[in-house]
Amino acid sequence: MFKPEEYDKILKTQKLGKNCISFKQVDSTNAYAVNNQVAPFSVVVSETQTAGRGRSGRKWESDSGDNLYFSIVLPVEDPAKLLPLNIIMAYALADSLKNRCSLKVKWPNDIIADGKKMAGILLETSISGAKVEKLVIGVGLNVNSTEFPDGIKEMATSLKMQTGSDFSKEEVLADIMKELEKYWDDLDGYIKKMPDMWKNYSAFLDKKIAVHKDGVKTYYLERGLSGSGCLFVEDENGTVSELVTGDIGYDFSS
Ligand code: BTN
Repeated sequence: MFKPEEYDKILKTQKLGKNCISFKQVDSTNAYAVNNQVAPFSVVVSETQTAGRGRSGRKWESDSGDNLYFSIVLPVEDPAKLLPLNIIMAYALADSLKNRCSLKVKWPNDIIADGKKMAGILLETSISGAKVEKLVIGVGLNVNSTEFPDGIKEMATSLKMQTGSDFSKEEVLADIMKELEKYWDDLDGYIKKMPDMWKNYSAFLDKKIAVHKDGVKTYYLERGLSGSGCLFVEDENGTVSELVTGDIGYDFSS
């Protein structure tokens, strides 16, 4: 059970995550944050979700109380910062967990260990004109789960599966808030450094990747990250292009 009082006691941020809205069960922490008046810098966390949302309209399995499901509301107005924020959130997650487990990022924002997915990130926004009205960053992080449903168990992992140890969800969440606040406090500076930092975080730099886009799978070599957070990929003819959307599959080898 996630204990908000314990989380409050160990949280070391100035503002990020100080207001914690905690549920035993909710449909989706992202949906709650998008549809309700939730102050900027708040975090919404739930023990389980009945309708957890994943990227590209997929479902996020959220029945297990052993994992973290949370959403952060940030005051971001510029739509150009959305893709970079996906990457920055992934960096913050990897940083906050690095003392527990060695993690890499799979573009744009899956956190992987040993070739399997440990966390996913879903940004949701309401946009008015050219401005973002509300930005919600949702994170599902497999902490202490050791079993996953059919269909995802081949590609899912957790902190516990990687290390053999149980972790305090309150400590893990407090550490994530601390790392994200570090990035937030110099967001423009970190967005500038983001492409260079990719070299240390990417799981597949200069490796073969299968890109799934509009139902088509294409193999490329991953060649780095652009200043706007797009992925440079090289096709079999040596032509490099920028990937703005799409998914890198978990089918790495064939
Ligand atoms: C992905 O598909 O990789 C993104 C998954 C994001 C899941 C999290 S769980 C907390 C938050 N609430 C949701 O409904 N989705 C996100």
